[in-house]
Amino acid sequence: MEPNRIRDVLVGKTYYIRTFGCQMNLHDSERVSGLLDSFGCLEAASPEGADIVVFMTCCVREAADQRLYGQCSSMKSLPPSPSGHRVIAVGGCIAQRDGEGLLTNVDNVDVIFGTHSLGHVAELIARSFEDGSRQVFTPEDVQDEATSLPWHRAVSYHAWVPIMTGCNNFCSYCIVPYVRGREKSRTIEEVVDEVGGLVRAGVREVTLLGQNVNSFGRDRYGHPRFAELLRQVGDTGIERIRFTSSHPKDLLPETIDAMAEVPSVMPQLHLAVQSGSTRILKEMNRRYTREQYLDLIDRIRDRIPGIALSTDIIVGFPGETEEDFLETLSLAQTVGYAQAFTFIYSRREGTPAARIEDPTPREVIQNRFDRLVKVIEGTAYDFNQQALGRTIPVLVEGFSKKDSHMLQGKSPKNQTVHAPLPEGWTPEDVVGHIVDVEVDRARTWYLSGTVAGEPR
Ligand code: SAM
Ligand code: SF4
Ligand code: F3S
Repeated sequence: MEPNRIRDVLVGKTYYIRTFGCQMNLHDSERVSGLLDSFGCLEAASPEGADIVVFMTCCVREAADQRLYGQCSSMKSLPPSPSGHRVIAVGGCIAQRDGEGLLTNVDNVDVIFGTHSLGHVAELIARSFEDGSRQVFTPEDVQDEATSLPWHRAVSYHAWVPIMTGCNNFCSYCIVPYVRGREKSRTIEEVVDEVGGLVRAGVREVTLLGQNVNSFGRDRYGHPRFAELLRQVGDTGIERIRFTSSHPKDLLPETIDAMAEVPSVMPQLHLAVQSGSTRILKEMNRRYTREQYLDLIDRIRDRIPGIALSTDIIVGFPGETEEDFLETLSLAQTVGYAQAFTFIYSRREGTPAARIEDPTPREVIQNRFDRLVKVIEGTAYDFNQQALGRTIPVLVEGFSKKDSHMLQGKSPKNQTVHAPLPEGWTPEDVVGHIVDVEVDRARTWYLSGTVAGEPR
């Protein structure tokens, strides 16, 4: 379909995107949004007011599938859209995994597009509007074009910057490599140019994205060049650099050096451990032992004292025993995580772990999960206590949902910080700016205090 024809069909249509899953999907949604904007569409505040509803889906755990089916069928009871015809599009990882199969599971879906075909979404939607047809496009082997698409960023001061797509690790429980393909790195120049442009546009913080950023460049240059990337991104003048995710097996000493030496790299690291038991780690195909992980943590802390460490942990991997689980508990305690995303293992069809039978009752796994959450709450609380009495630069993101005068932002260590908006200040004075906050209260999941000094 000619671009002009697509524009004729889409101009003035309203759209709403609902995103599930990880930051990769969040970023992909920003590209879909940018593309629809470029054809004259307008963002709507809710599905009710939208002619186009897009679901960006995730299949990393089972609950997500059920949620998508529910969300799609709830669209049937909406009042008619402004143009009188609503097109429902499903993208992201479930779309990539199921392709055409989704049409039978969800009878009111009009468009299905995969993780490698974002650039086609406007055309697919336009075709569906034109003749009411159902459009499916989920190829596996295409050049990723997402980073060349127009970009509609959700906020002005922060940007998600993908540095690579895909994953080569095939952890035995994980579906991601099957729905996102193999690792494909951008060039250093492309990423650095992009961040330079963002700095000129007023962006203060970037988060570099990849399933395993430590292996950035391996596919393109023959060896990882993440440390070099960090240094060059640091030279762009961006004030805050974060990145996610890091696989422990690929975190090189030169990367720890770059993290320690580049001032804009924030003192925070997300390093997924998944389990504290070497036996389970082997079953998970993680390719490090408990001891190697703990040794890595020591080396990071030596070089970057006070760094905030966060992680992902799976409870109830098939065959996990109480002894294995106790090793996870003790590892979490030893590391003293500032934050952890904890998950109950979810069987994913097509992954090697899905073939392992496990008779462990659900209640036992739930009980382990609850005990782990308690330990993490303790370590997070202890970590936050260290901020008491300190003055911390906070990048303000907005206001607390409970109190519209309570500004909310992030510390360099990625802690949520609250402080009352000073008398006479407006939200525009602070959102997207950095303010110093004197911390006088430290809870498990946030710090609070008072603003000291002017926003900058
Ligand atoms: N690539 C990232 C890494 O390895 O750190 C993780 C990406 S994955 C989207 C996020 C987290 O989901 C994983 O770290 C893991 O803890 C969790 N996860 C993945 N597959 C899972 C499964 N089958 N059941 C439960 N949790 C799972
Ligand atoms: Fe999944 Fe492992 Fe790849 Fe992370 S590194 S996306 S957990 S396969
Ligand atoms: Fe989910 Fe796909 Fe991300 S499966 S976690 S949205 S890569």
